[in-house]
Amino acid sequence: MLQLPKVIAHRGAAAYAPENTLESFREARKRGARWVEIDVKLTADSVPIVMHDSSLKRTTGVDRMAAQTLAADLPKSVPTFEQAIACFQELGLGCNVEIKPCEGREAETARVTVETLRRCWPAQLPPPLLSSFADLSLATARQGAPEFDRAILLGEIGEDWRARTEAVDARGVNTNGKKLTAPRAVEIVQAGYTLSVYTINDGDVARALVGMGVHCVITDAPDVILKALA
Ligand code: G3P
Ligand code: MG
Repeated sequence: MLQLPKVIAHRGAAAYAPENTLESFREARKRGARWVEIDVKLTADSVPIVMHDSSLKRTTGVDRMAAQTLAADLPKSVPTFEQAIACFQELGLGCNVEIKPCEGREAETARVTVETLRRCWPAQLPPPLLSSFADLSLATARQGAPEFDRAILLGEIGEDWRARTEAVDARGVNTNGKKLTAPRAVEIVQAGYTLSVYTINDGDVARALVGMGVHCVITDAPDVILKALA
């Protein structure tokens, strides 16, 4: 079974520092996290960067689309994927790399992500976990670099969850913890998948989910959830 820590810090420690920045990764480590989750997408010149939204506006104030911006023109607060990996090496952090493609770039984003991991991921860190809401990104990652474990991201668990998970040969299911029901959790765990939930910032909710069989909680507040699950 895919081994993950009990707690993964979402976009770094997004409750305490600007999300998906080197500062938020340092904050996550300081607050006890051993892994972080990040979102990776491509610039206009196909450089992988760490950014959640398609637009730079919400997190940087710059009213421009990431896919239409050259890497050289990015605000300094936005790390490239390579800079993020170097930071993980310095901090000893594992990573759930969410492939977050801009529309139409599902396959390309996956290809560039795994190529970067193959070239840059430090051997002394635990192997990264790839995840995505885009089945095409996961299938492309599998084809290009089957050695990296994958988790399928499901906003809601429909009847087709198992077929979709098998189709991309994922070992994990990452889902919205607020919508997960106990019977579904049992079904997924009994089928042998590693079950992770996002984005849970309340200790009691995290405890209840772990009680349902959830293996890993992805949270903006890793210190709060680590304490609740201790
Ligand atoms: O990977 C878990 C979570 O990050 C998925 O949703 O929108 O926060 O990327 P989102
Ligand atoms: Mg994400």
